[in-house]
Parts: sequence; C-alpha cells; structure tokens
Amino acid sequence: MQIINLKEAINNGVSAAGLIYVNSEPQIRPGRKDYVLGDLMCKGHIVQFRSWEDDVLEILKEHGKGIYLAKTIGQEYKSLNYINIRSLDLYVGDAVTEEDFQDRIPSGELEENWTDILGQLQERGLSDVCVQLINDVLNDPELDGRFFTEGAAVKHHDNQIGGLWNHSSKMLRILLALLDNNQELLPAIDLMTFSIVAHDIGKVFEYDALSMSEHWYANHRVRGIEFLVKYRERIFESYSEEFYRQVQAVIAGHHGEYGDRPTTVAAVIVHYIDSLESQTTELLREQEASPQSKFISPGFGYLESIYPDKLRGD
Ligand SMILES: [Fe+2]
Ligand SMILES: [Fe+2]
Repeated sequence: MQIINLKEAINNGVSAAGLIYVNSEPQIRPGRKDYVLGDLMCKGHIVQFRSWEDDVLEILKEHGKGIYLAKTIGQEYKSLNYINIRSLDLYVGDAVTEEDFQDRIPSGELEENWTDILGQLQERGLSDVCVQLINDVLNDPELDGRFFTEGAAVKHHDNQIGGLWNHSSKMLRILLALLDNNQELLPAIDLMTFSIVAHDIGKVFEYDALSMSEHWYANHRVRGIEFLVKYRERIFESYSEEFYRQVQAVIAGHHGEYGDRPTTVAAVIVHYIDSLESQTTELLREQEASPQSKFISPGFGYLESIYPDKLRGD
C-alpha cells in the first residue's frame, strides 16, 4: 500500500487512495454539519485536511493520531488548498511506520556541522570548560539522546528528525557572525554559546517524535529550566551564580514578545538570533511548499517567491 503523495493530492480535484499519517490530535468543528479538521504529514510536509463524513469523524475521534488508509480529494476554498478525506480505515499493518512519514537530516551531516561550529567558536575563545559542559548536558541520560533526534517544531521550521540539533547549530553560526561584528560580545562567548545550546533543550520534553507530548502544556522554557537544575552546583562552581541565572533568563525570555518579557541583554540577543533562524527557515519552507510563485505567509499576507517559476532551473 502506497503512501499518498500530499503535494499532488492537495491540488484541486485530484483523487488519491493510500496511506496517510495524522500527526496531531484532530479537532471537531461545529458547522452546518460538524466536520473534523487536522494535519497530515508526509516527509516533513504538513497539509491541512477536513472531512464531513460521519464515519471518518467517528474513527478520528476514537483513534486520533496515527496511520490510516484513506481515499481523498484535493480541494480549494478561498485560495486555501486542503485535503478532503472521503473515507478512512485504521492501518493495522507494520510495514509502514511513523518514521516513513517523517523527514530527517542525516546525522553525519549534523555532527559535522556541530563539530565545525564549536571549533570556530573555540577559535574565538570558547572555553574547554564550556565545551565539556555542553557535551555532558546534551548526553545526559535523562534526555536519552533525543536532543539529537527531536524536531525543532511539530508544524513549522525544522519539523524533521534532527531538527532541534540543526536549529541550535544554525543559531550558533549566526552567533559567530555577531561575535565577529560586535566584539564587545566576545567576553560573553561561554554564556552566549551555552544559552543557545540550552534555549530549546526542553523541547525534548514538550515534543515526542515530532508530535506534542502528553505534558506539552508545561512548555519547553519551563521544562528546560527544570532540567538544568541538576547542573546548578556545577555551573556555580565552574562559573558563578550570575552565569547560571543569566542562562535561566535566556531560556525564560527567548520568545521575546511571544512569551515572558526578556529581562537581560543576552535573552534579547538570543531571541533575535532564534527569530532570524526559525523565520528564515520557515519562510523558505513555505515558499518550497507553495504550488504558485505567490503564497500567503501568516505574518505578512501575500509574498512573491524569491525564485518565481520563470527563474527556476528545473
Ligand atoms: Fe523556543
Ligand atoms: Fe529556538
């Protein structure tokens, strides 16, 4: 049984039959007739689905997230494309697993980027004490290696296996550029580097293999701060209480205006780096996923692609 290619199946009027992966709990929406609304994932690509069929609604209400056998038709409403599920059955085989629907960044590539950026930061003065601390924290048994495999998001930027590690690595590259531009930041290189490594570490607890975990509502800022408590004495000893509190402030404030108000300069800078990295990645992903050269971005409305069709090489 084939996995439905969502990029094709979402086009208006296209019928498809095969396997789909509902990667988060669908919602029931009231309407003239109640309908169910949710997301499908295929190779990191997320599309919206809807269904007005009573039995589809019942099956999804009972089983939620998972792999299903479906018949679909692509539809368009007010220039928004979505997949209409016409019929649905639970998939009971084991030949296809959730991983077949997820995208991944090869771990060798991630490891190479990580070693490279840490090496460059060491050339700017990142201390051995900090590198050791980073290694110990990321390999802490409680994380079970998941910093290296979890996504950076469920729906948005870097929602693929290895996405969290990738996002953190790309942020360190932006930090490197800032350290070269604003040398007055150099004395804070350990704090800035460690804070970036730790800023989203709580996503290991907020997410569970690219979907929301059971306790998602205690968000990754809260969970990250909680996790790091076990390193408090060590950080007090190798640095100071000041260093530890500054890291806490970065984790708490790194969402800027979308979370707790940042209370330190480091928190604001990490917020800017985080936004620049995640927004750029997200925008390019939206551009890539868009069937037309013009697409709607939630923040700014219609945007024309950097590479309109006529300039595309393929
Ligand atoms: Fe975050
Ligand atoms: Fe982040």
